[in-house]
Amino acid sequence: MSEIVVAGGGLIGLAVAWRCAQRGLPVTVIDEAPGSGASYAAAGMLAPVSEVTYGEEALLALCQASLQRFPAFVTDVQAASGIDVGLRTAGTVVVGFDTDDMRALQDLHAYQDELGLAVERLTPRQVRRREPSLTPRLRGGLAVAGDHSVDGRSLHAALLAAAQAAGVRIRRARIAALGVTGGRVTGLQLADGAEVRGDTVVAALGARTGALPGMPAVGVRPVKGQILRLRGAAGLLAGTVRALVRGRQVYLVPYAEDRLVVGATVEDRGFDATVTVGAVHDLLRDAIEVVPAVSELELVEVLARWRPGTSDNAPLLGPTELPGLVLATGHYRNGVLLTPVTAEVITDLLISGRLPQLAVPFTPHRASLRPPDRTPAAQASGGDHSCS
Ligand code: GLY
Repeated sequence: MSEIVVAGGGLIGLAVAWRCAQRGLPVTVIDEAPGSGASYAAAGMLAPVSEVTYGEEALLALCQASLQRFPAFVTDVQAASGIDVGLRTAGTVVVGFDTDDMRALQDLHAYQDELGLAVERLTPRQVRRREPSLTPRLRGGLAVAGDHSVDGRSLHAALLAAAQAAGVRIRRARIAALGVTGGRVTGLQLADGAEVRGDTVVAALGARTGALPGMPAVGVRPVKGQILRLRGAAGLLAGTVRALVRGRQVYLVPYAEDRLVVGATVEDRGFDATVTVGAVHDLLRDAIEVVPAVSELELVEVLARWRPGTSDNAPLLGPTELPGLVLATGHYRNGVLLTPVTAEVITDLLISGRLPQLAVPFTPHRASLRPPDRTPAAQASGGDHSCS
């Protein structure tokens, strides 16, 4: 049987490789530093309902399908690796501060209601009964009991161990180019001159997918996110808190014993890795406004990474017009959440030759994709906070 070569050892690449190996396919993952990209930054929210966006109902359905698979996926990967991935099922609250924030939350709730999603409106008192460390200055909120979170870094460590235990070969090497001969994929060329041969390459390189030499145009662009990690937050929050603070969005996600993630900016600035004073200041100011005790915590990490954005905010899943090239990328804000369903549909495709119906709306040549907007206005927009 010909080798499956997976380009990229982040959450998506490893989950695809693991599931393929479990079903008997020979798999090699190539990545210079597995798990150092978006998987390393991700806050780990599993939040299809609080994140729902007008016009993205197909994406919502995929996200819900993946959330449904999460508990079994977690049980499986924890059993295979012996690593706890920190699944939290305390739910999410979304809060607002001024009249405009509350109007935005009302609109969001009306849309969630129209879609039949389970969301409860909360008075300020009810919000604080759920999360007593929130400021009394908030004006109200929504509770989404089904939106959970996981520790993305632990999930990556668990997938790496599970994949290796299932027989996946992990090769830590820099990828130089997609190998293409006679109009079909032949594997990957490495920076050290070696070649890894395979009839099928699964491209799971996140924001860098389109930058790989030899790759056809895939329409994935980097969307920068700056994100913070704090320590000393034991018992501070039960679940995820997302807030609109006078029009700005911020999220706070507890993980491990005493950690808190605060995120994140959404910036169209290419592969700019700068951590800026303004972004750190804005994120901390808003986080402290939502949970005043955040000012007492230790700031342990600030970093910037890139979400793989597409023109319709949905992933690219499945075969391309280049024979042998399969995409598993473009997950934008939902990489952690969409890991189980992506692994399942890509593995099914590689085994049966058919993309499962669930993934058909997300094929790389779907009609809803348009060329990435490269106008100066689009390039300049950035710096807004956003929740996910
Ligand atoms: N999923 C978190 C974010 O994109 O900011």
